[in-house]
Amino acid sequence: MLPTIAREADAVVMIDQRKLPAQEVYVRCRSAAEVARAIKTMVIRGAPAIGVAAAMGIALGMRKSKVTGTQKLAAEFYKACELMASTRPTAVNLFWAIERMKRAFVAAAEAGESVEQIQERLDREAQMIHDEDVASCRAMGAWGAEVVPAEARILTHCNAGALATAGYGTALGVIRGAVEAGKQVAVFADETRPFLQGARLTAWELVRDGIQTTVITDSMAGSLMRQGGINFVVVGADRIAANGDTANKIGTYGVAVLAREHNIPFYVAAPLSTIDLSMPDGSRIPIEERHAKEVTHVAGTQLAATGALVWNPAFDVTPHHFISGIITERGIFRAPYIESLRAAFDTAAAVR
Ligand code: MRU
Repeated sequence: MLPTIAREADAVVMIDQRKLPAQEVYVRCRSAAEVARAIKTMVIRGAPAIGVAAAMGIALGMRKSKVTGTQKLAAEFYKACELMASTRPTAVNLFWAIERMKRAFVAAAEAGESVEQIQERLDREAQMIHDEDVASCRAMGAWGAEVVPAEARILTHCNAGALATAGYGTALGVIRGAVEAGKQVAVFADETRPFLQGARLTAWELVRDGIQTTVITDSMAGSLMRQGGINFVVVGADRIAANGDTANKIGTYGVAVLAREHNIPFYVAAPLSTIDLSMPDGSRIPIEERHAKEVTHVAGTQLAATGALVWNPAFDVTPHHFISGIITERGIFRAPYIESLRAAFDTAAAVR
């Protein structure tokens, strides 16, 4: 399986997603600060993947700490958590992973563990977050495969694949699950301006897997749908509010509106760690705005006229009524989401 991120004794190693598909280069982060920088600068991106990176980065930082005594370690630990939390604001998986690391630290400190024992516990917790994410993606793939048409022409937006997770992917996990279930699948990947996650990353991943992939520019999706070229849409998510409103890569909302107009099922695939029940609806989800240069330039070449203003929100919010279902590791949840998503956290729930 594609190695998105891995822990070595003295580093967190990740494939540099800014360089794909032209170059397969691995970045070795040797401190928590280097991991935070990698998240901020999009060496690694995608909601679950940045959660895993933050957890591994915190664990690495503590492993490298030279302090003696739990109290001094705690000061460094909370500083590392704050640093990770300041990297990107929208994907809730980041904050969810940091909270898990904090709970692990508190449990260790309360149990009177030594610095070395705390370091070990944090390493284990980060690796668990990684491994659970892969398992969640595989479960999502199996659930999602059930609703994919037997002869599917699937549109996806951005990259919600192995690269955006610890492995296998959420939206691309559903696509992989459908292929494994014997369905005939052709994928259409929106290029996803401005960062081009679709053209660069989704196409790279799927072609490597031998899944037929056609790249289209974002503006072609409507015309393709109108011609009957798409019969299923699946996307990932960065944060899902309690009522089902879903923040995902900018452009997702437009795809959802087009899918509704053309009567095409529109599914969101995401682990429970992407659901934020503390947000009643999507209006309060913080939307990251990124540098103007991502819009004015492509691969270092300026395209936009000098002096033009730029608006560059990295995400938009799709209102819940456009979403046919939310595919999670516990099953597929449907409207009214305000009830079904709450129930999703009940361990007994497994819903079709
Ligand atoms: O800015 P990015 O590349 O981190 O945005 C990624 C997305 O919007 C993905 O669709 C989302 O994180 C889901 S990844 C499984």
